Amino acid sequence: MQLDDLYRRVIMDHYKNPRNQGVIEDGTVTVDLNNPTCGDRISLQMQFQDGVVANAKFKGEGCSISIASASMMTEAVKGKTLAEALELADRFSGLMKGESVEFDEYEDIEALSGVNKFPARIKCATLAWNALRKGVESGKNE
Ligand code: FES
Repeated sequence: MQLDDLYRRVIMDHYKNPRNQGVIEDGTVTVDLNNPTCGDRISLQMQFQDGVVANAKFKGEGCSISIASASMMTEAVKGKTLAEALELADRFSGLMKGESVEFDEYEDIEALSGVNKFPARIKCATLAWNALRKGVESGKNE
């Protein structure tokens, strides 16, 4: 897979030093998802306070793209309202479809833009974001 060198470095940094890895003792929601094509998994925990994602942490086993994406997603989503979190996930879907989308709140995410050229890897990149969507949807119903 050929990704722009700078983007590759950003992805590897998140893979080797994942942000927000771990568990939240008093998490509001936990979402466990796996990528059916490879069996890799992520467990995402979020803590909601007054309609805002107050904290987000994950644990996972997966490839560099899936771990980096989870690391970036958890960084970007903290402090967002549930509606903003879903909008962020929509923007990420656009990025995976090759749309030119910006992530001013957390530019590292744009390093995953090259993944849309590799259909098999899109599932890796979207795993954490699917977990986010699911967690926010269940948080809304509380
Ligand atoms: Fe399994 Fe990427 S190869 S999530």
